[in-house]
Amino acid sequence: MRKIIIAGNWKMHKTQKKALEFLQESKSNLEEMNGTREVVLCAPFTALSVMSKSLYAGLIHLAAQNIHWEDEGAYTGEISGAMLTELGVDYVVVGHSERRQYFGETNETVNLRVLAAQRHGLIPILCVGESKLQRDRGETEPVIINQVKQSLINVNQSNLVIAYEPIWAIGTGDTCEATEANRVIGIIRSQLSNEEVTIQYGGSVKPSNVDEIMAQPEIDGVLVGGASLDSVGFARIVNYQ
Ligand code: 13P
Repeated sequence: MRKIIIAGNWKMHKTQKKALEFLQESKSNLEEMNGTREVVLCAPFTALSVMSKSLYAGLIHLAAQNIHWEDEGAYTGEISGAMLTELGVDYVVVGHSERRQYFGETNETVNLRVLAAQRHGLIPILCVGESKLQRDRGETEPVIINQVKQSLINVNQSNLVIAYEPIWAIGTGDTCEATEANRVIGIIRSQLSNEEVTIQYGGSVKPSNVDEIMAQPEIDGVLVGGASLDSVGFARIVNYQ
């Protein structure tokens, strides 16, 4: 059975105070949640410690939004696996398209970060997705297959989550058709040796479209950006029908 994972990626949002308020507001909504769904919050590094010590920490799993591939060293501004595990983090987002676009991540550095996460006992949430231009040129499949193959060199597929996030659907309100997301996720799955890998969809997921997305057979969860910032909306997504 593949695990269903509903994750909120807060990106560069929420101070410690706001993160704790979110947890408090989410308490009753998340407690009602069907126990078969795992809820993950990908919070900024600065909020992880207080969140993991919060009274409500048991309601969720925590994820960081990046990890460096070395265990320590002269890498100003980076965070190592050991620093994250100390904070009670279980997952880490790797290769998000915003990191690829604004911070020069390549499939090679993404692969190193995925390997580092697993070395430290963290589960990487590997993000892949094509740009609008690549989709319009009919290159979606080769782009995605290349990202998956390159990012997973020497990676153990038993502790792995993949998120299919078409770049043109991120933060645009322009969700990928659920059936199309299902099709691409099927292609990603065909590249894996382990059938049990959870594969999420991400890109303009909202309370109004989550039910249709989660009804697709290949889609095992969602990675939600903007709509995860509001505790009421996020609770509705977690409690998709
Ligand atoms: P939005 O849900 O805001 O489109 O962001 C998706 C995303 O990038 C999640 O990682």
